Amino acid sequence: MKSKLMITAVVVLLMGMSGTIMAKGDPIAGKSKAYICASCHGVNGEGVEQNPKIAGMAAGHFIKQMKAYKTGEHNHPMMEMSLQKLSEQDLEDMAAYYASLK
Ligand code: HEC
Repeated sequence: MKSKLMITAVVVLLMGMSGTIMAKGDPIAGKSKAYICASCHGVNGEGVEQNPKIAGMAAGHFIKQMKAYKTGEHNHPMMEMSLQKLSEQDLEDMAAYYASLK
């Protein structure tokens, strides 16, 4: 009886911990959202012609860049256009996804 309680406590603790670690971006969700970016940045974010490589970019830097495009602080019509429909969570997910690529 007591040990069952212990196990439950440990499981809850572990779930809570992974919750904090995973709270931000989900790379799997990010991947499924990244198709809109692939036409310019390549299927794996490798960069195509004038479109920069974004694979392997640190998540923090990615978010910062994306927000700068979104607010127009970094003016670039193509990027601004792609960003209009994306939520904060979408950005976090995509950041995790691209950061996970080489
Ligand atoms: C229509 C083409 C196009 C689409 C679609 C597009 N981008 Fe871009 N992106 C660009 C270009 C061109 C640049 C370089 C702009 C500049 O010089 O500031 C850029 C820049 C970036 C940068 C900054 C790169 C750096 O080195 O600082 C990031 C991050 C980025 N894009 C991510 C994305 C993501 C994520 C998506 C999908 C939501 C996306 N882009 C969709 C064309 C595109």
